[in-house]
Amino acid sequence: MTDSTAMPKKLFIKTYGCQMNVYDSERMAEAMGAKGYVTTEVQEEADMVLLNTCHIREKASEKLYSDLGRLRPLKAANPDLKIGVAGCVAQAEGAEILRRMPLVDLVVGPQSYHRLPEMVEAGGKVVDTDFPTEDKFDHLPARKALRGPTAFLTVQEGCDKFCAFCVVPYTRGAEVSRPAARLLAEARDLVSRGVREITLLGQNVNAYHGAGEGGDWTLARLVRELAQVDGLERIRYTTSHPNDMEDDLIAAHGDVPQLMPYLHLPVQSGSDRILKAMNRKHTAEQYLRLIERIRAARPDILLSSDFIVGFPGETDRDFEDTMDLIRTVGFGQAFSFKYSARPGTPAAEKPELPAEVADARLQTLQALVTQQQRAAQDAMVGREVGVLYEKAGRLPGQMVGKSDHLHAVHVADPAGQVGQLVRVRVTAASTNSLAAEPLLG
Ligand code: 5AD
Ligand code: SF4
Repeated sequence: MTDSTAMPKKLFIKTYGCQMNVYDSERMAEAMGAKGYVTTEVQEEADMVLLNTCHIREKASEKLYSDLGRLRPLKAANPDLKIGVAGCVAQAEGAEILRRMPLVDLVVGPQSYHRLPEMVEAGGKVVDTDFPTEDKFDHLPARKALRGPTAFLTVQEGCDKFCAFCVVPYTRGAEVSRPAARLLAEARDLVSRGVREITLLGQNVNAYHGAGEGGDWTLARLVRELAQVDGLERIRYTTSHPNDMEDDLIAAHGDVPQLMPYLHLPVQSGSDRILKAMNRKHTAEQYLRLIERIRAARPDILLSSDFIVGFPGETDRDFEDTMDLIRTVGFGQAFSFKYSARPGTPAAEKPELPAEVADARLQTLQALVTQQQRAAQDAMVGREVGVLYEKAGRLPGQMVGKSDHLHAVHVADPAGQVGQLVRVRVTAASTNSLAAEPLLG
């Protein structure tokens, strides 16, 4: 008989929501890896199931409870199965999760992930949703698992903006930036292990002001220094706030070749009245002027945004203002959401619009952004672009990667290798991807 204690334990992680969570899940897997856990894709064979949750919209957090309900038979069959809830719902609801779902063993907020292994070892029911003073990044093991030639690097966390609809300032806490020297060291390490593209992450990434040589560095300074790292071919960052889009960062888009021509810059609404009620602290006109300055620095930049429709008090006129802004800017990509009241936020106090009004507006807006996205994709046909191969495609001889402008591209290239940066010509477009062939020579 084999000794079952010698078998590595299996960890299944389900990630909801944003890229920040994708990155956090990887880091938690690494922290648990140091304690002998290996990750599995098969929930049924896991010794521990960890749900890394998102609280940003109601649907996202409801999903947690329905998924937990579905874990009941698994826990009944294996009472030793550990079930953990991480992420922003964990932060917002804490011990309430244990009360509502007694099958849960541990609840861990985003600032306490480095404590996860000791929580698991401690056993019993544990809740840790502190905002500890120590930096979790100092306590997490060095990056191990790399998924191909692209990597995320968290440079900043939290948000001080307090948009009236948003839970992030409550669940992720105040803005904190990581020191520049650490980030440069981490980036060099990633590149030495084959990474060629780094996406800098932060809830408010362009508010970055980490300690660096000679005082606090801006995101632009960090980008410029990263561009000096040999072998790092591409730099991206997300998500930005319009009010933190400083001149030096706009200038970097014009003169740092490694900084890719794609910018996700959420505006949320095109109505000044609604922007004010949302506490966004900028007008539609200011956003449009900002876009002009960014396009002056980098004319081919592809712009992306988030929109909320049906915010309390939004009239047909306000909605038309949003549609006008979309028509004026022309977004290559856009994410749109129906307003959902989040407990504890100022907007949640206000009366909501009838669901059918919000639904109809969402459909109208999505039709426009889909049309713009399709036009932007079609405009790529015949153009030459750079593509970084991330993996082999489903068809034989096909490679899949992202263009400089973050389009998904399928390239017919039997000689292609993962990690190669190639020039290709786009041959066809669909709404979500491009087809291309390599340029010879
Ligand atoms: N309702 C709907 N959408 C929201 N978002 C954030 N909070 C809410 C909410 N309460 C959207 C915003 C943000 C994106 C990440 O999620 O558009 O930019
Ligand atoms: Fe939320 Fe606004 Fe902060 Fe973005 S800037 S995380 S929408 S509060």
